[in-house]
Amino acid sequence: MTDADSPIASAPVAPAPVAPAPVASAPVASYIPGSATANGANGANGAAEHRAPVTLTGGPPPGAATLRSVDLCAWFGDRLVLEDVNLLMPAGQVTALIGPSGCGKSTFIRMLNRMHELVPSASLAGEVLLDGADIYGAGVRAQEIRMRIGMVFQKPNPFPAMTIRENVLAGLKLARIKCSDKDTLVEQSLARAGLWREVKDRLHSPGGALSGGQQQRLCIARSLAVHPNVLLMDEPCSALDPTSTARIEETIGELRDDVTIVIVTHNMQQAHRVSDLCAFFLAAENQPGRVVEFGPTEKIFTEPDDPRTLQYVQGRFG
Ligand SMILES: Nc1ncnc2c1ncn2[C@@H]1O[C@H](COP(=O)(O)OP(=O)(O)O)[C@@H](O)[C@H]1O
Ligand SMILES: [Mg+2]
Repeated sequence: MTDADSPIASAPVAPAPVAPAPVASAPVASYIPGSATANGANGANGAAEHRAPVTLTGGPPPGAATLRSVDLCAWFGDRLVLEDVNLLMPAGQVTALIGPSGCGKSTFIRMLNRMHELVPSASLAGEVLLDGADIYGAGVRAQEIRMRIGMVFQKPNPFPAMTIRENVLAGLKLARIKCSDKDTLVEQSLARAGLWREVKDRLHSPGGALSGGQQQRLCIARSLAVHPNVLLMDEPCSALDPTSTARIEETIGELRDDVTIVIVTHNMQQAHRVSDLCAFFLAAENQPGRVVEFGPTEKIFTEPDDPRTLQYVQGRFG
């Protein structure tokens, strides 16, 4: 596939909370999100199923996409921190990344949407393929990738002074995506993130006034508003109480049909509950991190091939 016919190359510019500079618009492609996407999580959440799907002009192609890392390695300066990671993260499934601190999970997930390159000393080798197209290919813009592959961090990072509504629409604005019906998009995005009912009467209050768990769901809604193909989550619940954590897990369960999810978690019960596939990362002392084992979550937790995997999931180290 050449860059010219890559779906990524022709996509418009992406928003990125950390690097929100807008870029000139690319040729636009219109699409109407599928009804499953528009309504999937809404029923349980009181959103308006009767409304027509929102038309976004200039967004990513709809639906979940498959992400694959091929021989992926990462360095900070001349220090190799992650070696030869080969993972296939299938469309519409939840892949959990587990392993002790410092083994490279955050570095790996940040390479999946080109945030790794924002660290001045950082470099990488290998490939990341989004539905077969290399996200690091010539002519592919990082901001496009960060729209198609959204990210939610450990610490919720809404724009505190913006209203809840403005927060949801922030990515759209930065990416210069046009939306036929912003009210419906706000409602649908908040509903998909499991937050609509709690905030529908105060959409004009500041995002910073919400609780930590609500802020995290607001960040999920902000990512969902541009209809990403993949959502990366780096320990999204580690700063949250058990009730908020349960809400996020519920949200993950509802989103899994229309967005591919990759989640880093230190919570073994959570990895077991929410994921279809699980990768166990480990770094021996003074060695780069590697994937020890990758496979169906049930196998990883009950009869893994490597004894270190069983020791880790049983909480015997790390
Ligand atoms: N910005 C950075 N500069 C230099 N080294 C870093 C940076 N970020 C992470 N590292 C190092 O890379 C390794 C992997 O870190 P990280 O990906 O954060 O691991 P994990 O998320 O599994 O805890 C660690 O040894 C860490 O110290
Ligand atoms: Mg980390």
